Amino acid sequence: MDFQFTEEHLMIQQAARDFAQTELKPGVIERDEHQKFPTEQVRKLGELGFMGMMVDPKYNGAGMDVISYVLVMEELSKIDASTSVVVSVNNSLVCYGLEAYANEAQKQKYLKPLATGEKIGAFCLSEPEAGSDATSQHTTAEDMGDYYLLNGTKNWITNGSTASIYLVIAQTHPEKGSHGINALIVERGMEGFAIGPKENKLGIRGSDTHSLMFTDVKVPKENRIGADGFGFSFAMKTLEGGRIGIAAQALGIASGAFELAKQYAKERKTFGKPISEHQAIAFKLADMATEIEAARLLVLKAAWLKDQGLPYAQASSMAKLFASEVAMKTTVEAVQIHGGYGFVKEYHVERLMRDAKITQIYEGTSEIQKVVISREILR
Ligand code: CAA
Repeated sequence: MDFQFTEEHLMIQQAARDFAQTELKPGVIERDEHQKFPTEQVRKLGELGFMGMMVDPKYNGAGMDVISYVLVMEELSKIDASTSVVVSVNNSLVCYGLEAYANEAQKQKYLKPLATGEKIGAFCLSEPEAGSDATSQHTTAEDMGDYYLLNGTKNWITNGSTASIYLVIAQTHPEKGSHGINALIVERGMEGFAIGPKENKLGIRGSDTHSLMFTDVKVPKENRIGADGFGFSFAMKTLEGGRIGIAAQALGIASGAFELAKQYAKERKTFGKPISEHQAIAFKLADMATEIEAARLLVLKAAWLKDQGLPYAQASSMAKLFASEVAMKTTVEAVQIHGGYGFVKEYHVERLMRDAKITQIYEGTSEIQKVVISREILR
């Protein structure tokens, strides 16, 4: 067992850390307040190879491993989880989904511009009445011979209005249940495809979350991913990897808040000494550090399993479940350590606390992770 990162991992981690400090930190409060999408930052992340990190260079990707991906996700998320969710969805849901399951023509056409960040992707599974209960798809993709007629509404779609390429899950054969679902590649601008208003969210406010409406959208048959009826398996398999990215995001939010709290505790004095020297605060920091380290080990284990080509569904759900709970707990404590300062925007921890909450909800709630884990361990 080797707990050392390679030189390359350390360089990638440092590059992400530098990027977060120089490119994400300035303006992060304003983007959060005004719900401003990080357009320029995402463009630069594309130039660094961070939008298609794990994609094979033959499809314009950076050819890095999953460990590198989680290191980058952690560093970006310490500062700006709104930007890191864009990175996560593009890398581990859209690019991975296409690289693993699309055909060669689809990869040439759609994966290549996504891997460079020239285009952004969105993953469209959730619906007004199908969030956790993902097999209950009401969006339909009626088989019309050489095309599918797509009708329905998708909800809570990350990159909703900034994406150009959408992977849309829809029901084709209702009588077959989850085995009648397809995954279709839908392009922005296809006739009948409308984007609803931006959601006004508690956290990750810089990211771009919308409902999408499809009315008689004609999607060519050649845009279906995999065999007829593969769509639900496609979504589930892709989410297994996506959850590693969100676990790393949660880890980053937690470690970002911890670093701020530790720094503040060493500087702020009460009763004649830094508050870090009061056991009430020192013990909080000890608990936070221990839980963050445990979360980090789970995240890295899941990433390592994926890199090795070993099964990782259980590990990714455990990592996401635990890291998101640590993110929530740590950020609440970080605000508490900051006292009144923690409640105002300039000190960053209130934003991290708001951002932490979504990590317990998207890509499967904590309860869904427990469904996945319990099924695996009881199998
Ligand atoms: N890989 C392959 N196939 C899978 C699978 C997997 N991981 N999980 C399930 N399947 C298959 C099953 O084997 C089953 O096939 P059979 O009938 O042949 O056995 C079929 O799919 C149906 O599976 P289940 O019976 O297990 O389905 P279920 O209704 O019990 O639901 C669930 C399972 C785990 C709860 C699933 O619905 C789920 O994960 N829900 C949460 C969805 C989710 O994470 N949504 C997030 C939206 S994306 C997002 O948030 C992105 C973003 O913007 C940031």
